[in-house]
Amino acid sequence: MRNDLYIKAHYGESIPRYPVWLMRQAGRILPEYRAVRQKLSGFKELVETPSLAAEVTLQPVDILGVDAAILFSDILVVPDAMGLTYEMIEQRGPFFPQTIRSEQQLTLLDENPDVLDRLSYVFEAIKLTKKELNNRVPLIGFAGAPWTIFCYMVEGKGSKTFSESRKLLYTNPQLAHELLERITDFTIEYMRQQQLSGVDALQLFDSWAGILGHDQYTEFGLKYVHKIASAFRGFPFTIFSKGAVASLPEIAKIESTAIGLDWNMDIQETRNLVGETRTLQGNLDPCLLYAKDSIIVKETNKLLDSFKSQRHIVNLGHGVYPDVDPEKVKILIKTVKDYEIKYN
Ligand code: CP3
Repeated sequence: MRNDLYIKAHYGESIPRYPVWLMRQAGRILPEYRAVRQKLSGFKELVETPSLAAEVTLQPVDILGVDAAILFSDILVVPDAMGLTYEMIEQRGPFFPQTIRSEQQLTLLDENPDVLDRLSYVFEAIKLTKKELNNRVPLIGFAGAPWTIFCYMVEGKGSKTFSESRKLLYTNPQLAHELLERITDFTIEYMRQQQLSGVDALQLFDSWAGILGHDQYTEFGLKYVHKIASAFRGFPFTIFSKGAVASLPEIAKIESTAIGLDWNMDIQETRNLVGETRTLQGNLDPCLLYAKDSIIVKETNKLLDSFKSQRHIVNLGHGVYPDVDPEKVKILIKTVKDYEIKYN
């Protein structure tokens, strides 16, 4: 690997500078992405066409100069492959015509979906991307955490509160656990096949972790995150539980090389909790990229100055917003690349 800063940071190995990449870097911020997307029937066609998925995965590497590529796909390919298909509606987001809120509806899922067969387009995209990357930077594979996937399967669409999903935790916890269990088993198999297809690291996105209270997130969220992370012990693996500030002490106990932080989480407080045995990823406010250049430079340097060890990967605290100017992203990236690690 010509640029292995991202991998070294996962293992706490000595690095000359911090690696940087952005969640949602492969996507609408780039005109080159929109050009590819425009020619297609929709988002799913892009996700399911390996050569095109590989092409847009490489765009941020070539155009923005990030230190890692993340596979272009979506967390919703998992419920889709389990038998609950989704549509991606323009300007609105995902929609599942059928949802799972009862034992009866659990039968909508296929009995034993074959990961290799159902998600062959993902593994094909990984192999193509690896070939085209030619070891320039590592490739990150990913999946949604079971709680977040559960939210979409129960709610059927995005929501501010996911109250149908949270309701089920009270009205039928047994059904909730059964569904979470099935998502977990499928996800482990899915991430295993991504690993076998060549990804260099994995990230688990728990985007809706923060809508559960601490005790419920422990029972319905982290239990399954733990099971998945344990299956990849020793491999570069990031747990990103957005909004789960109160659960950071528990997350710190789960074996993974890295923990992703959103912009409400404090770098030093988290460092004190987890010690030097984990890498922290994050955590600039995505809205910083609307600021003028000098403020982006100042705030990025402030974040870098707050790091007291090598175990950091620079990122935003959530995905980059689609209307951000890519030139602003380049300023953030240049600031990180120009920064010398001082405490060495
Ligand atoms: O660059 C990358 O990060 C890789 C690609 C990627 C996408 N989605 C592409 C995408 C990744 C890692 C995801 C993860 C994802 N998908 C998450 C977890 C991360 C997070 O943002 O919290 C979630 C919750 C989803 C589900 C999802 N996909 C929603 C709610 C939406 C609609 C909202 C939106 O952002 O448009 C999507 C669509 C989606 N996934 C797009 C992209 C580039 C936009 C669709 C388009 O191009 O029209």
